[in-house]
Amino acid sequence: MPNTAVITGASSGIGLELARVFAREGYNLLITARRRDRLSELKQELENRHNITVHIIDVDLSEPDAPGKLFKFAVENKLPVSVLVNNAGIGDYGFFKDADWNRLSAIIDLNIKSLTHLTHLFIPELLKHEEAYIMNVASTAAFQPGPLMSIYYASKHYVLAFSEAIANELSDSGIKVSALCPGPTESEFQDVANMKKSKLFDRFPVATSQEVAEYGYKSLIKGKRVAIYGLTNKIAPKFISLVPRCWVTAAVRKIQERK
Ligand SMILES: NC(=O)c1ccc[n+]([C@@H]2O[C@H](COP(=O)([O-])OP(=O)(O)OC[C@H]3O[C@@H](n4cnc5c(N)ncnc54)[C@H](OP(=O)(O)O)[C@@H]3O)[C@@H](O)[C@H]2O)c1
Repeated sequence: MPNTAVITGASSGIGLELARVFAREGYNLLITARRRDRLSELKQELENRHNITVHIIDVDLSEPDAPGKLFKFAVENKLPVSVLVNNAGIGDYGFFKDADWNRLSAIIDLNIKSLTHLTHLFIPELLKHEEAYIMNVASTAAFQPGPLMSIYYASKHYVLAFSEAIANELSDSGIKVSALCPGPTESEFQDVANMKKSKLFDRFPVATSQEVAEYGYKSLIKGKRVAIYGLTNKIAPKFISLVPRCWVTAAVRKIQERK
């Protein structure tokens, strides 16, 4: 039986495109998100196009028991999971002081807690394989503080730091860990994060989710621990490291401010 790739947030954007890439590469899939109808459509598309099986489970990963449910589904169905893609993530635009606490809490639960919990649950399964992979979707937001999206930027900093640390810890195993860092990308992210007023997407080149997914897959297989998509995005962290931190933070605020 071909190995299975678990992909979170596969109902749209980068996660959906990653599902298409892993399906093309011959993996069976376990895909998850909250919108079951979207997952069912994708299952049909991928099973028609490739000789693979796609399992779906709809869970809200900001709920504390959701990672456990997803893991139990994989174990009960005896899926040989050799890839974990922690892609599901959301942001929220606006001042921290004005934000709704439940919304902020859901960002932390989804972007940080569920990603960490899923990684912890699946590592023993991944270790059963000679070669296995963890892709954690971070962001170029991981490299600096982000006024007007403070929790989101900080959450992606966590994803990057966590991924680099476990990549080191797992370096003598068959598991390769990669933090994918896209810059602004076409997807539903902007709408969900209420970012239409931000200048960010007008100021930087915007990639397609398909481009990011193809790059993420190649980087993962190559064992690239930090995979930053796009030349401008690659140069930015190098430049940022040379400039006082408060200047960088002020510049991000300018970019994030209302149009
Ligand atoms: N787009 C960008 O500019 C950009 C840049 C850098 C990094 N990223 C990162 O890329 C990743 C994918 O985002 P995207 O751009 O593809 O955005 P997207 O189109 O909004 O996709 C987000 C995915 O996450 C799922 N999701 C959201 N909340 C969830 C929850 N509570 N439980 C389970 N699944 C949930 C969504 O599915 P349901 O709504 O069906 O649950 C959807 O499939 C995120 O981690 C994001 O931070 C995006």
